[in-house]
Amino acid sequence: MSHILVTGGAGFIGSNFVRFVLDNTAHSITVLDKLTYAANTASLQGLPASRFALVQGDITDADLVDGLVASHDAVVHYAAESHNDNSLDDPRPFLDSNVIGTYTLLEAARRHGTRFHHISTDEVYGDLELDDPNRFTESTAYNPSSPYSSTKAASDLLVRAWVRSFGIEATISNCSNNYGPYQHVEKFIPRQITNVLTGVRPKLYGAGANVRDWIHAEDHSSAVLSVLEHGSIGETYLIGADGEKNNREVVEMILQQLGQPAGAYDLVTDRVGHDLRYAIDSTKLRTELGWAPRFTDFSEGLASTIAWYRDDPAWWEPQKKAAEARYTAQGR
Ligand code: NAD
Ligand code: DAU
Repeated sequence: MSHILVTGGAGFIGSNFVRFVLDNTAHSITVLDKLTYAANTASLQGLPASRFALVQGDITDADLVDGLVASHDAVVHYAAESHNDNSLDDPRPFLDSNVIGTYTLLEAARRHGTRFHHISTDEVYGDLELDDPNRFTESTAYNPSSPYSSTKAASDLLVRAWVRSFGIEATISNCSNNYGPYQHVEKFIPRQITNVLTGVRPKLYGAGANVRDWIHAEDHSSAVLSVLEHGSIGETYLIGADGEKNNREVVEMILQQLGQPAGAYDLVTDRVGHDLRYAIDSTKLRTELGWAPRFTDFSEGLASTIAWYRDDPAWWEPQKKAAEARYTAQGR
């Protein structure tokens, strides 16, 4: 039984991990979260007070981080600025949280000998052609495209350097696109679901041909727990569930599941530098750690996600206006 510090635990994937760990293990958790626009404390409601605490603070605050890392057995580091479109408007917060924040945590883990697991993304590898038979593996060269993905790549390289130079006990996982309940409405799937629910047509960037490799957030959480408990120190594990779909297919499924005509969407200005395709080969994780995804039917996972947004408008309505105002300013 361990006491785990989860950074960014009031965000989409971090809060899923917190709920998953409290439901399935005897570990206890402290969340350290700055509570930026992307956080929602409603995602952490009803958790057992004897095994859960929330600390509001910034991962770049070295004194706060030092005390918290010293008093925990492990750190699982989710906190980051996470949205590509925002990074194109204003990269600076991405450098602060993703690079300096990770550095601050690594230094504390080094001082206190604390086990460290770093959460990262498949975007560090850049993108693939639509017809490329290869998928990303742990040995694919780094080639990030956006300010967001380049700061995540920088943070991964810091972790690798701190393992090699200072011997910290760290692992890294790089996961593909997550979907599921509690995701901020700025992101693709919840933006389109909540658009349809509010009578607005979904917005597809470019021609909608870009491919993402979708995984349910709970499968990401089970994989991270597996790496935390059984992964080899210094290793990187890619997390994916063979869920490749192009954006047009996803929008059409959302429209169909919400009883709308399949063509009832708008094509809007493309994202600059828009990565074409991501695809993960998760053989290492599956063979070495015996992990497998539980949500293997995307259509079913999407239906339950749509039902969650339909049934819990109080969770997302307060975010929607500000998120759409940012898109309007970007012409999307
Ligand atoms: P999110 O934007 O929903 O949540 C991020 C959380 O981090 C928020 O609660 C925010 O308040 C917190 N945070 C941001 N800066 C902070 C700081 N300086 N100090 C403390 N807290 C801070 O993001 P998400 O989609 O849940 O992603 C979480 C992590 O997973 C990120 O590291 C991201 O790169 C990675 N990831 C995301 C995906 C995906 O599909 N969403 C896929 C692979 C990896
Ligand atoms: O691959 C993992 C990454 O997935 C994570 O590291 C990021 O944190 C996460 O945000 C996500 O990045 P993407 O840029 O792929 O996700 P996003 O939800 O922003 O967009 C998914 C795809 O949908 C992408 O091709 C852009 C497109 N899109 C997005 C929006 C918001 C649209 O076509 N219309 C939209 O309105």
